[in-house]
Amino acid sequence: MSSLETNLGKVKLKNPILLASGTCGVAAREFEPYFKLSDLGSIVTKSLSIKPRVGNPTPRVVEVSPACGMLNSIGLQNPGIEYFVKNELPYLTEQKVTCVINIVGETLDDYLQAVDVIKNKSEFCAIELNLSCPNVEGGLDFSQDPKKAFTMVSEVKKITNIPVWAKLSPNITDITEIAKACIDAGSDGLCLINTVLGLAINRWTKKPVLPRGVGGYSGPAIKPIALRMIWETYKKFPKTPIIGIGGIHTTDDAIEFLLCGASAIQIGTANFVNPKASIEIIEGLKKYMEQMKISSINEIVGQAHLQSEKPLAKSAY
Ligand SMILES: Cc1cc2nc3c(=O)[nH]c(=O)nc-3n(C[C@H](O)[C@H](O)[C@H](O)COP(=O)(O)O)c2cc1C
Repeated sequence: MSSLETNLGKVKLKNPILLASGTCGVAAREFEPYFKLSDLGSIVTKSLSIKPRVGNPTPRVVEVSPACGMLNSIGLQNPGIEYFVKNELPYLTEQKVTCVINIVGETLDDYLQAVDVIKNKSEFCAIELNLSCPNVEGGLDFSQDPKKAFTMVSEVKKITNIPVWAKLSPNITDITEIAKACIDAGSDGLCLINTVLGLAINRWTKKPVLPRGVGGYSGPAIKPIALRMIWETYKKFPKTPIIGIGGIHTTDDAIEFLLCGASAIQIGTANFVNPKASIEIIEGLKKYMEQMKISSINEIVGQAHLQSEKPLAKSAY
């Protein structure tokens, strides 16, 4: 019998499929008509800050093309972490879903105050620190400066025993520099990648479509960028669990991320196209494992790095 149970250091999940932050509402309530949340490995909450945020002016999303993906500039709209704990967390507990809480702020102190609210809550299997939002002023500061990333992760680690995952930005020259800073600071895992900075122009108004100009590009077109960054990071830091994100829409995509070095993956933009994508990928992974006679999903993590003479058998699921 094949096991999808996934080891991410101190965190064990029933399978490697998570819903990505910001693509499943605040607490994934929107998925109730489609499947049981408890069938997922985990869900990642919307980024939560110490104070509620109203987000950016509309329009906030632009579809680039269905084959490529979308740009968003939500601006971290969220009800605030205290509201979340009071009004949304009981729902997630009731659904018996493992939960990763994503935290954001404008300053180090903002992050620490938000972590302080949940630092002893056993409902969360991990804290995902969003160091990489491209849609607010200064949102990328923590993932473009290794010193700031180090300080952030180490200060958060001082106040909580919940495993910490740093979510990094692709909008940087060498992702392994930031990855190293986070690992040195004690990060228990790395989430790669957040959205890629992009821009859309309206030819009739002759202006950028999004009021802030730039937005975060996500969806199938960013998959090779994500894979490349996971490849480089896994090569240097094979012991640090990587949670892969970026353009994963199908089982094939998911398998590629695992082979590349991700121990788990998050489904993001695909949720807007097909709300059942995550569950279909779980089923697809089961079939792949049976056909390839893989007993544990952990076996294939990073396998693409082995310079094997033998090609991997063709998938036929
Ligand atoms: C509409 C939208 C909102 C997002 N909001 C957040 C957020 O609040 N926090 C965060 O860390 N990432 C956020 N993201 C980034 C995703 O979690 C993910 O890293 C990114 O979209 C790449 O994955 P994908 O190509 O599968 O969508 C958002 C993405 C989208 C499309």
